[in-house]
Amino acid sequence: MRRTIIAANWKMNMLSKEVVDFFAEFGNTALNSEREVIIAPAYPYIKMSAELAAGKNITIAAQDVYPKAEGAFTGMVGGKMLADLGVKAVIIGHSERRRIFGEPNDLIREKVKFVQENGLHLIFCVGETLPERESGVMFDVLKEQIYSAFDDNLTLPPEKITIAYEPVWAIGTGVTATPEQAAEMHTFIRKILKGRYDYADSRILYGGSVKPENIQGLMANEDIDGALVGGASLKASSFMKLVNF
Ligand code: PGA
Repeated sequence: MRRTIIAANWKMNMLSKEVVDFFAEFGNTALNSEREVIIAPAYPYIKMSAELAAGKNITIAAQDVYPKAEGAFTGMVGGKMLADLGVKAVIIGHSERRRIFGEPNDLIREKVKFVQENGLHLIFCVGETLPERESGVMFDVLKEQIYSAFDDNLTLPPEKITIAYEPVWAIGTGVTATPEQAAEMHTFIRKILKGRYDYADSRILYGGSVKPENIQGLMANEDIDGALVGGASLKASSFMKLVNF
């Protein structure tokens, strides 16, 4: 049985007061113990979030990591810092990092390796752009993203390797993939995980304009094991609904 994950990616949002208010409102919401809840705050708010989330059955994640333990890397946050802050999971390869910051596949591969070496839960994002979907190459795009990161590079057990399928055209746009579109891509990813890597039991999350109103339909497919949520995770009331969908 794959445990459903509902993950929040706060991106570059939420100041101290909003973080405090979020956790106060989230309170002791009877979190369904069959669900794994992950929250990825921006770096400066990780420690505070970890403290506020203590005892609430919430895993704190980072939105990225620089793949070195420590050293002369101005502006970066490395592995020892994340461990020191209580981070247990890391999002790698988000389309905003690929697109806005030009992260190439070889750096992403290095990060995938680094996260595993540090025993952290890897949440690895893949997804095609709208032109790629319209020209029908979305399966090839996903293959390239997954093969370049995973081939001969998977060391942790399946429960610590999670893929987030996030079509770029659905992120922050209000346009969600239909349950059928998402299901098709998830089934494709599952085949790869099973056939190429023997990781059939890894979880595959859907991300891209997930909201309380559409989560149920998306989660109906057996290959969709949860959601990675941006905008709708910023309000506790909305995230609570998503967690308990
Ligand atoms: P969104 O973002 O829910 O705001 O579309 C999802 C993500 O980028 O992880």
